[in-house]
Amino acid sequence: MSKTIVALDFSSKEEVVNFLSQFDEPIYVKIGMELTYACGLDIVKTVKDMGHNIFLDLKLHDIPNTVKGGMKNLAKLGVDITNVHAAGGIAMMKAAKEGLMEGAQGGKTPLCIAVTQLTSTSKEAMNEELGIEGEVIDCVVKYALNAKAAGLDGVVCSVHEAKAIKEACGPDFLTVTPGIRLATDSVDDQKRVATPAYAKEQGCDYIVVGRSITKSKNPKETYDLIEEMMK
Ligand code: C5P
Repeated sequence: MSKTIVALDFSSKEEVVNFLSQFDEPIYVKIGMELTYACGLDIVKTVKDMGHNIFLDLKLHDIPNTVKGGMKNLAKLGVDITNVHAAGGIAMMKAAKEGLMEGAQGGKTPLCIAVTQLTSTSKEAMNEELGIEGEVIDCVVKYALNAKAAGLDGVVCSVHEAKAIKEACGPDFLTVTPGIRLATDSVDDQKRVATPAYAKEQGCDYIVVGRSITKSKNPKETYDLIEEMMK
């Protein structure tokens, strides 16, 4: 099972098909809002028909009833992982899970994970703009415990928080970690970044890698290198 989820942050179906044509074996990919808002949810079928596993990263955050209805429809697409913002609260997260179970209609229920704090959020922004006091790690662990209480399968967090989450929520509670950069890469807009080697050391279950792979000179080679580092 691959440990790397490639973020398909493209704006057209052509770019996606072109990018994925480099991979002979099924990989794990993340379809987020950039691609979905450009191509619609049909892109999920396109990528699924190519045999890949899908993390549909639409980060739902609304009242429980609306999230439940949204998730019910997303479950019908047959994706492997979906997500919500933990900031929506426990009732919203429970509703997300209920919607997924209803939509799966006896088939495989997609996993649901909660975004804790975005890896682009610094402590200063969290304290001063979001109005949440204290350290990022404390908020992230609290959100992870909420997600677990709601019956979700894991969280999206930074590599630096994965160990504390495993300690608080148990080894089976998934940690999916974006903000990954190779030592030679630029950090871009991310703030809480780490290398694949450090992610492995911290016990992350999956790493999400976007620009380090998609913008590299040889994406397949970079992907293989990162997978090797995670073994
Ligand atoms: O290009 P890069 O590797 O920074 O891409 C990271 C991906 O992970 C993006 O698609 C972004 O939306 C997503 N993500 C994130 N931080 C989170 C949740 C998702 O960077 N906390």
